[in-house]
Amino acid sequence: MVTLASRRFAVAIFAIAAGLVLQVHAEKQWWQTTTVYQIWPRSFKDSDGDGIGDLNGITSKLEHLNDMGVETIWISPIFKSPQVDTGYDVSDYLDIDPMYGTLEDFDNLVARAKELGIKVILDYVPNHTSSEHEWFKLSENSVDPYTDYYVWHEGVLDANGTRRPPNNWLSVFNSGSAWEWSDKRQAYYLHQFAVSQVDFDLRNELVIEETKKIISYWLDRGVAGLRIDALPHIYEDAELRDEPISGLPVPPTDYGYLDHIYTKHLIENYELVRIWRDHFDEYNSKTTDGLERVMFTEGYGTTAQTTLYYDYGAHIPFNFLFISNSTVSYNAETQSPAEIKHNIEQWLQSMPEGATPNWVIGNHDNMRMATRFGSEKVDTFNFILLLLPGVMTVYNGDEIGMTDTYLTWEQTADPQACNTDPGRYQGYTRDPQRTPFQWDNSTSAGFSTNTRVYLKVNENYRTLNLAAQKAADKSYYKNFQAASRLRNTTVGRDGDLKTVVIGEDVFAMSRELDGHDPLLVVINWSKSPVTVSLDEFSNFSEKLQVLASDVNNDLKVGDTVSRDSVTLQGNAALILTSSDITCSDYSDVSEVACLIPSLKSFFNV
Ligand code: NOJ
Ligand code: MG
Repeated sequence: MVTLASRRFAVAIFAIAAGLVLQVHAEKQWWQTTTVYQIWPRSFKDSDGDGIGDLNGITSKLEHLNDMGVETIWISPIFKSPQVDTGYDVSDYLDIDPMYGTLEDFDNLVARAKELGIKVILDYVPNHTSSEHEWFKLSENSVDPYTDYYVWHEGVLDANGTRRPPNNWLSVFNSGSAWEWSDKRQAYYLHQFAVSQVDFDLRNELVIEETKKIISYWLDRGVAGLRIDALPHIYEDAELRDEPISGLPVPPTDYGYLDHIYTKHLIENYELVRIWRDHFDEYNSKTTDGLERVMFTEGYGTTAQTTLYYDYGAHIPFNFLFISNSTVSYNAETQSPAEIKHNIEQWLQSMPEGATPNWVIGNHDNMRMATRFGSEKVDTFNFILLLLPGVMTVYNGDEIGMTDTYLTWEQTADPQACNTDPGRYQGYTRDPQRTPFQWDNSTSAGFSTNTRVYLKVNENYRTLNLAAQKAADKSYYKNFQAASRLRNTTVGRDGDLKTVVIGEDVFAMSRELDGHDPLLVVINWSKSPVTVSLDEFSNFSEKLQVLASDVNNDLKVGDTVSRDSVTLQGNAALILTSSDITCSDYSDVSEVACLIPSLKSFFNV
């Protein structure tokens, strides 16, 4: 056995002799290895009892998030808004919506986050404003310089002399035409999303200047970056050509009725990202605190379309391959060990060299992870995603395995669903994944002291809640926390990745780095037990020791299994390491071995 001390020494020698170690595993920026925790502010924590989550509620939970291993929070829109699309319809980019608090509350949140070492990311919506934004009101009245801030068109006259929108484009939210008539302006305006979400004309230089001002304003206020909303939808065909019919069996007012070749994924969207990246770079060059401010971008598309944002300067273009590809949403049926391996490889092979990989497990626009894959797969996906290299993004509640909440048609608020009908809304609604966070088993799941809350609390809150999971010896939450700690070891940050499918049912992946304790994640996708050899991971010792195991597993931290023959329970998810590693210096948490004693006491074994 090579001791830890001698292995460290070997690395140092290698570094000096070859001068390569630093180059290969160069010091990474904060955003290249961070865990991003997405907060849906409206349902995260209500501090004042009005039944709506707010900024002070988030601030009160920052210590908890720190304890969980979260280093970055991304807060979905908190700006002034009539809340037609839960804040994605902004009426003032520079102020906080009163239902969430004040600018002072926001500054307090940022200050407290800074004390705890947590970075704050805000959600920036550059494609559209609310029709209540001052700019739109002025534009509607043709007041310069706002006259051309939005996409306007006087329409066309049909054979009967009736005025019609200039083309057949449809709203993403299934309300029919993407054009809406304005009596005041005597013209149509474009809205890719809800009728009151008015599309900017980003071919207007003045609007681009406004976007830069907004970005700088929030960076000046202490945010570490922005998540940029709805990128694929920013530009539309300048010639306004009709889109072809998709052939999908949906009503002609549904977005899916057309094939969006002229309103999505235009190259100008990418060019705009380059403009913003230059703006970020310029901003960063003037700061003295060494903190790189970054851009996370949102865009659903093919892997090639998404990874192309890297080439144009996005630090992290969200990778949704654990949620869907460009044609289907993933669930337990469409996924398998082979598919998981394929998802990972697809992204790594498609992104440009030197880019930072990233993995998203859920968000406010998709069914919850536990509902898509089944609760028995919560540990599986948390272990895999937390121990993949790069950035992991988790949606609030997924760390405790929250599930979608059934809401009736009457209880539904999401415009994307409300524009359909009682027979179809379930396929479109995003409310089930947006219900209050389940903190404990008290009133409204500890989210609010009010019994009337924004979207009803899931009835399973009495047993499925954070407090219960903190008290249990083993839980999704504790597993998330343990995997987060392992993620923060040297090998978790810098280790090379190897992924293997064994037989039909088993997926395994290792993180290895010369001179450092290795990590191995093994999962059994099937619900029946299976016995496999992990000898492909020949750098690991012949006995492997358990670091974490799924909530139903009998194996505990410190238990050992034989590398050449491991029996995995149905739906097993394990994190393993070699059994011959030792920690001579317990203060060094960057090595896996040094974490083992604390993991044992953490899991009460
Ligand atoms: C993407 C956001 O994630 C979604 O929630 C929103 O409805 C649309 N963009 C429109 O802003
Ligand atoms: Mg409140």
